[in-house]
Amino acid sequence: MERTCGNGTLRLSDAGREVTLIGWVQKRRNFGSLVFIDLRDRSGLVQIVFDETISEKVKDVRSEFILQVWGTVVARQDPNPKIPTGEIEVRAKDVKIINTAATPPIMISDDTDALEDTRLKYRYLDLRRPSLQKILMTRHKVCMVTRKTLDSMGFVEVETPILARSTPEGARDYLVPSRLYNGKFWALPQSPQIYKQLLMIGGMEKYFQIARCFRDEDLRADRQPTFTQIDVEMSFVDENDVFAVVEKLMQEIFMEIRGYKVEDHFQRLTWKECMKRFGSDKPDLRYGYEINDISDLFANTEFMVFRNVLDNGGEVDALKFDAAAGHYSRKKLDELQEFIKHNFRAKALAWLKMEKGVLSGSIAKGISDAEKQALVERLGIADDDLVLIVADKPETAETALGALRIRLAHELDRLPKEETYKFLWVTDFPMFEWDEEEQRWQAAHHPFTAPRVNDIDELFTDPGNVMSRAYDLVLNGYEQLSGSIRIFDQNMQEKVFESIGMTMEQAHQKFGFFLDAFQYGTPPHGGFAIGLERLIMVLCGTDNIRDVVAFPTNNSAVDLMSDSPNIVDQAQLDILGLQIAEKAKKQ
Ligand code: AMO
Repeated sequence: MERTCGNGTLRLSDAGREVTLIGWVQKRRNFGSLVFIDLRDRSGLVQIVFDETISEKVKDVRSEFILQVWGTVVARQDPNPKIPTGEIEVRAKDVKIINTAATPPIMISDDTDALEDTRLKYRYLDLRRPSLQKILMTRHKVCMVTRKTLDSMGFVEVETPILARSTPEGARDYLVPSRLYNGKFWALPQSPQIYKQLLMIGGMEKYFQIARCFRDEDLRADRQPTFTQIDVEMSFVDENDVFAVVEKLMQEIFMEIRGYKVEDHFQRLTWKECMKRFGSDKPDLRYGYEINDISDLFANTEFMVFRNVLDNGGEVDALKFDAAAGHYSRKKLDELQEFIKHNFRAKALAWLKMEKGVLSGSIAKGISDAEKQALVERLGIADDDLVLIVADKPETAETALGALRIRLAHELDRLPKEETYKFLWVTDFPMFEWDEEEQRWQAAHHPFTAPRVNDIDELFTDPGNVMSRAYDLVLNGYEQLSGSIRIFDQNMQEKVFESIGMTMEQAHQKFGFFLDAFQYGTPPHGGFAIGLERLIMVLCGTDNIRDVVAFPTNNSAVDLMSDSPNIVDQAQLDILGLQIAEKAKKQ
């Protein structure tokens, strides 16, 4: 259909131009015989004026009708500085109603007050909102930059199957029943992990894919059951080679999308150091406030609470916030205590305030003057500072203070005012996690991750102490990427399966084809996967993953628009050899 340009692209320099525009009616206002219509398309909106010679033609036009308008661009007498086209308007000469529209059930505007569930039900209308369109365009651009950058570095995009064998990423699989082989199932891939490693064995050397992943897991604000990864694998590499690729890719993406120059090389911290200093494996480094282990200051303490914790292998950790004492009343500090008791099972929160050179607070009477003095010197406590202290098992103390660090930084408004992106590589993660339920070790990343070379001897003797060659990239407190250097030796792979309690028989039954492949000259290799949605969330400044997905599910994993998942015909079940259990029918 004929159109000269996007509605939102017109400027004062276009005055005098004859244009043909198409778009949806955002708003219609009548002023006597004049009618004003804001006409919206993907590029934005522009005001069209219909005078008495033509206004009759648009008298029945309502919101979301589609019009084609022929007219002249003219300077506006009362410019509207709020919109980019505010200095001009278009005087209509002719108009055609291309389609009518029923009254939309939601207001199509960025300041819509519709509930999220209603917006998701009418997602096709919600998608007309400029902010969502902008996000989808950003997402498209990120994919374009990714393809261009990885191509320039010699990576080849390869698609891998969606109907696949179960992959070991730790979530539940979505299963697809087979029609040809009743009783057998495909699994939708939780990631292309096995395939990308097989591509390395297949001699591809550098692979990437913008890959759909499927995970049946508990949803959170940054999780969807279907999501997308920028998935990469490379042969003949170590960590430094992998990091260089990611750093280059992030530089290109942030420059293109935000005009922002990110550092050439990202900061690195081991997982242990990260937990100790920030109480989290994904710390937000846009602000400081590090945790201090002050156990040594209380080595000979007579303060029984600390004494007991230290004697039982625990530690005393402190977190200082400057100029914060006045913000935290007893009541608010009690709230903080409840928060860490409830969420981290911490036993208690101790606190100290410095006011007019005097230290007061919940433990001020319990600890000695010498201990107070040592604490003031160690933490550099000054007037109006607030110190939060947790004495507990090391992990509890660190994670509780890590959460308070985030909470107070936000409550006290300590985030930088200007746009800031702080990347961090977290390395040397524990290889295994103890699974209380199953009473055995589990692979913390996935079982194809290589152990740190020096730790191999401890695989069987002290699995909890073995660190892996896994890494995460953290950006402003979000885990953006995970990856690892992989095992490429068949014996080592078998050893790792053994240490997570998997017999070789079980391993072969699950990944036999994969293990077999290892005997034919497997190259050393490693890779990573970036969570595309998480990256777009940071780039677009939203903390709701549903904002960056065209057709998301709600947080109960339901697609409200198509009302799925849903029941299917009995005939379909019969073909698949499936029967619905009585219990499930009742639900
Ligand atoms: P991992 O499981 O850590 O690693 O996933 C990699 C990245 O994908 C994103 N992500 C998600 N995003 C949205 N919704 C979800 N449900 C979701 N789950 C994960 C995160 C995460 O950092 N195969 C390995 C990677 C590798 O070793 O190469 C993997 O999938 O941003």
